[in-house]
Amino acid sequence: MTKVYGVGIMGAGNISSAYLKLAPLFKNMQVRAIADLNGEAATSRAKEYGVGAQTPEAMLKNSEIDVIVNLTIPSAHFAVTKDILSAGKHAYSEKPFVLSVEEGLQIKAMAEQRGLKVGSAPDTFLGGSHQQARSIIDSGKIGRIASGTMHIMGRGMEHWHPNPEFFYQPGGGPMLDMGPYYITDLIHLVGPIRRVTALTGKAKEERLVTADGPNKGTSVKVNTPTTIHAVLECTNGALVTLGASWDVSSHGHHNIELYGTDGTLYVPNPNFFNGELVVTDTIGTKSTIEAWDHPFGIANEDLDKPIPRANYRNAGLSDMLDTIGTSRKPRCDLDLALHAVDVMLSILKSGEIGEAVSIQTTCERPDAFTPEQARALLR
Ligand SMILES: NC(=O)c1ccc[n+]([C@@H]2O[C@H](COP(=O)([O-])OP(=O)(O)OC[C@H]3O[C@@H](n4cnc5c(N)ncnc54)[C@H](O)[C@@H]3O)[C@@H](O)[C@H]2O)c1
Repeated sequence: MTKVYGVGIMGAGNISSAYLKLAPLFKNMQVRAIADLNGEAATSRAKEYGVGAQTPEAMLKNSEIDVIVNLTIPSAHFAVTKDILSAGKHAYSEKPFVLSVEEGLQIKAMAEQRGLKVGSAPDTFLGGSHQQARSIIDSGKIGRIASGTMHIMGRGMEHWHPNPEFFYQPGGGPMLDMGPYYITDLIHLVGPIRRVTALTGKAKEERLVTADGPNKGTSVKVNTPTTIHAVLECTNGALVTLGASWDVSSHGHHNIELYGTDGTLYVPNPNFFNGELVVTDTIGTKSTIEAWDHPFGIANEDLDKPIPRANYRNAGLSDMLDTIGTSRKPRCDLDLALHAVDVMLSILKSGEIGEAVSIQTTCERPDAFTPEQARALLR
């Protein structure tokens, strides 16, 4: 019999609906309550999904809850994750996990002392396409990955998010907001990173909110770089350029391209669980790879749109819960999240000081996630 863990959700904002909607897919968890500093937000989300609404303090004391998912804003992640561990519960955070390496190390020490698990999004690298990319790389088909490019570019967040202020503060920006998807997938596919160098800037000092809602027509001050160009040196020697910007209306770059000694792999957008994979041979002949039969690659959203999407958020949480009481590391574990944060903060630091920065932390590549292992988590 699969043990079912009681889940509490802290933060009833935008992304909480994805977690609430998708949680029932996973057999080892049940969402039992949602809390928010803003009681009304918690109550209305709770009603929508038929779960209990509580104050944050009451949820931390709720004995029916084993793990709390931290869906608060980035500047609150550290304090909230600490509160969760202090309450004796396992913690799973949205990205970015923390905003400094010191904070991450404090959380690691607290978790180890208390024997609690800590994990963090993103879990999109557990998606069918990214796992298939991993299996292609691990098979040796394109040889050793020697270099690559990653592009995260767009026009920002103020045209769709009703409350976009946090995106333009330290802890946000394209590096810390979107970067986790790319850096985590890179670590998963190629391995950890030992050194980075970057130049950073911003096109605008203020951004006008055009998304519908109470903030429409107001301006947000930009207090973090919105254009970043970096080079990352992986510990296997691969050199990967990264362009991350919210100052770009259109561009022609692919999300991730990995150049192996025997071919190239075009990896789809790591913000999504699925997408098209293309591989080339040594002379550059391209072939589209037929998607393998992986449960986290099956489209379940936007089915009427040109690109239907697979969304299995909670996969990383479910995998973490599966490791409780065992010595297995969660795939979305603290060391991976902390290394990704270290890499992103070091890129920003390099932009500030104009010098290459060596990365202090490291981690193992997370275990591959086979279709059978993924299927075992689903109802
Ligand atoms: N919106 C998305 O599509 C999306 C996607 C992936 C990841 N994320 C990540 O999820 C997190 C939340 O994003 P969002 O878009 O839902 O933000 P949001 O601003 O819509 O919601 C955040 C909620 O957290 C609450 N909150 C803040 N501090 C709190 C605290 N100390 N205790 C309890 N509640 C607190 C706020 O009142 C708010 O309701 C961010 O880290 C973001 O990077 C968002």
